Amino acid sequence: MSLLFLLFFISLLPSTLPVPSIGVTYSAPRRSAPSAERIGGGLRRLKTESLRLEESDPSITRSLLYTNTSLFLTIPNYMVTPIAQNRSTAVSWLYTNVVPFYPRVNITSISVGNAFPDVYPRSIDDLLPAIANVHVSLRDLGIRKITVSTSFSFVTAISSPFPPSSAQFQEPPGATLFGPLLQFLHDTNSSFFINLYPYNLYRLRPEIPLGIALFQDHPFNFRDDFTTGVRYRNLFDVMVDAVVSALAVAGYETVPVVVTETGWPGPGWPSGSGAAGELDANLGYAEIYMRGLVKHLKSGMGTPLLREGVREVFVYEMFDRDEGSGSGSGRSWGLLFSNGTSKYHLDFSSSSSSLSPLNLPLLFAFSLFLLLL
Ligand SMILES: *[C@@H]1O[C@H](CO)[C@@H](O)[C@H](O)[C@H]1NC(C)=O
Ligand SMILES: *[C@@H]1O[C@H](CO)[C@@H](O)[C@H](O)[C@H]1NC(C)=O
Ligand SMILES: *[C@@H]1O[C@H](CO)[C@@H](O)[C@H](O)[C@H]1NC(C)=O
Repeated sequence: MSLLFLLFFISLLPSTLPVPSIGVTYSAPRRSAPSAERIGGGLRRLKTESLRLEESDPSITRSLLYTNTSLFLTIPNYMVTPIAQNRSTAVSWLYTNVVPFYPRVNITSISVGNAFPDVYPRSIDDLLPAIANVHVSLRDLGIRKITVSTSFSFVTAISSPFPPSSAQFQEPPGATLFGPLLQFLHDTNSSFFINLYPYNLYRLRPEIPLGIALFQDHPFNFRDDFTTGVRYRNLFDVMVDAVVSALAVAGYETVPVVVTETGWPGPGWPSGSGAAGELDANLGYAEIYMRGLVKHLKSGMGTPLLREGVREVFVYEMFDRDEGSGSGSGRSWGLLFSNGTSKYHLDFSSSSSSLSPLNLPLLFAFSLFLLLL
């Protein structure tokens, strides 16, 4: 009996598995220049030290010089082909965006393009040479710790996500991309980057209950994968495990997964109402998604097929775009209003949710006490 208690308490001990770092994407509003103070304030409000720049900007990178922030950089899509064609273009990009700051700024990764196959479907063959040129140029500069990869959108990269165990990479027409890319990621100890929006999949698939997309625990909110016998209770795990299955089918199950974008839209400017037909783009659902996501990631449970979970997650995005920009998308993705104040109560720091290490001796003492009874 007491032994059972002991085992029970040991099972409560925080697993040695790491909780993924939760960072945030900053994308510059169209009309105003980025302000270092604003970005620093946003990072403090969200209690995160992990920033992804959708467009690398040396002035932002410089502002992180005396901070602990780790930085994820993105090379814009329009530069992929020039970099593929001429390595000196890669070198000159690195001289502008990396060399002046590294290693005083902790630049961890570079994504060569973002959803490049979606934006430049005819230039897909340039993606691997561009990645290789950036990688080799970094090595030539003596920089070994910055990893190079490229972000994909989930719906483009993954075919048949239901059930997750049936998922595979979807090669672009006429191209062979994933095999050689995964071999490169494996050889260079890099991660697979994926933009993963349960919101988008939920909108594509009317049969998906909203509750699964929003991390709502409910007896009827599940999807079974009969091949693996796994019952999924949230769409985020379904999508991550689809990526994990695709990696496994391709023979690269050890390549880590980084979620470069995820989020849930709220209504956009200027009307304050969602775009036509996007009633689910509202602040209430966005808050439920964000809280559910953060709680799930901090639980350290990983996903059914990936015990250690994804390595990193970047939420999209830090600020609402300026009210004036009138992008017309009818959606806003910010975790903070454009004036910098919080929309939701969120805390991305890794410390707060799981058992505090201070409680460990107490737990041990208590279980020993039970054992002695
Ligand atoms: C590559 O770019 C450099 C600098 O812009 C230029 O001098 C060189 O001629 C280019 N090489 C090729 C093969 O286009
Ligand atoms: C691979 O990356 C991980 C995490 O960044 C690091 O801890 C490990 O030392 C790296 N391994 C090699 C062989 O570089
Ligand atoms: C910031 O903007 C939000 C949304 O427009 C508004 O509700 C809030 O009052 C503003 N806060 C400040 C301090 O201006």
